Amino acid sequence: MDLIDSFGRTVRDLRISVTDRCNFRCTYCMPEEGMTWIDRSEVLTYEEIERVARICVEHFNVNGIRLTGGEPTVRAHLPILIQKLSALRLADGSTPDLALTTNGSTLRNVAQELRDAGLQRINVSLDSLRADRFLAMTRRDELANVLEGIAEAQTAGFAPVKINAVIERGANDDEILDLAKYARDNNLEMRFIEFMPLDASNEWERNKVVTQDEIVNTINAEFPLTPVDQRGAAPAQRWSYNDGKGFVGVIPSVSHPFCADCDRVRLTSDGQFRTCLFATDEFDIRALLRNGGSDDDISELIRTAVGAKWAGHQINQVNFIRPKRTMSQIGG
Ligand code: GTP
Ligand code: 5AD
Ligand code: SF4
Repeated sequence: MDLIDSFGRTVRDLRISVTDRCNFRCTYCMPEEGMTWIDRSEVLTYEEIERVARICVEHFNVNGIRLTGGEPTVRAHLPILIQKLSALRLADGSTPDLALTTNGSTLRNVAQELRDAGLQRINVSLDSLRADRFLAMTRRDELANVLEGIAEAQTAGFAPVKINAVIERGANDDEILDLAKYARDNNLEMRFIEFMPLDASNEWERNKVVTQDEIVNTINAEFPLTPVDQRGAAPAQRWSYNDGKGFVGVIPSVSHPFCADCDRVRLTSDGQFRTCLFATDEFDIRALLRNGGSDDDISELIRTAVGAKWAGHQINQVNFIRPKRTMSQIGG
């Protein structure tokens, strides 16, 4: 049975945060110090995650699973979870798309292992190509390592590898063209992300958001672009380069919200089910998992949560309330 919310949107995509911990401290996400981590006893085991994913795939025809964090690869034995999830099948026998979003710092060592475990796609965050600025934005001196990790992911057979850059005015907005060029030259799909009010330090301001229009105009002036239609439920709006050198995307959450087409739900690392990145309420699946709940009980909770999914975030309204948790706690 499909999961359809009260606005007629069908859920197809489950984003699973496997940990809230991270080895980076990106300024738009975490403070330098002082994050309180979720206690390990509260974090779902791989068996618990597999159970929720199985229900979503087998009962509700969810055909996409994405693992996020924090940084998902800092969780021990991640390939074991990937093996479990890659064995899931929809009712029609098809395999769900299984993807990972990572900061890339460990890929040099683990890309092949992830691929062998059954991972199909990888998206890597990369906000700057300048070592000093990479350090300023992530608070870690890891640029060379991440670039090697991206190359290693391609060698391991991931294609396309997509690169995500959050663009923040005054921080890295002068690198839009350099990043676009790097991706064009290295057979990568670059996506620029509008800065969202989910940073732990509460420093988001509207004038720090570099909008989709500004980003596209900057690229188009150097490398002419043509919009690609079929966006579907994907957050990225895509353009193709007129010279045939691939695609570029923008994730315009602030200037062009895509909530009306949203097909996603989320499971946090501590087992809370959320229907939106910006949701202010969560549904406690962990309690059911750990107190003898049946698959039907879990399905019922998921149906209730999806039934209560709202039309969309209110970043652009005066009554916008930031969610209590930040991006690294919810899952990027
Ligand atoms: P693909 O299937 O490869 O297109 O992946 P994706 O773009 O869905 O996933 P990815 O994890 O790479 O997401 C990129 C960025 O999109 C995230 O880091 C967020 O900034 C943003 N994003 C992801 N999901 C949502 C969402 O539900 N709402 C909003 N507003 N932004 C989102
Ligand atoms: N705004 C937009 N994207 C963010 N991310 C983290 N914090 C923010 C934010 N405040 C995204 C980045 C990173 C992914 C894990 O989460 O794209 O690549
Ligand atoms: Fe870590 Fe990702 Fe947050 Fe950066 S954006 S601190 S890599 S969770």
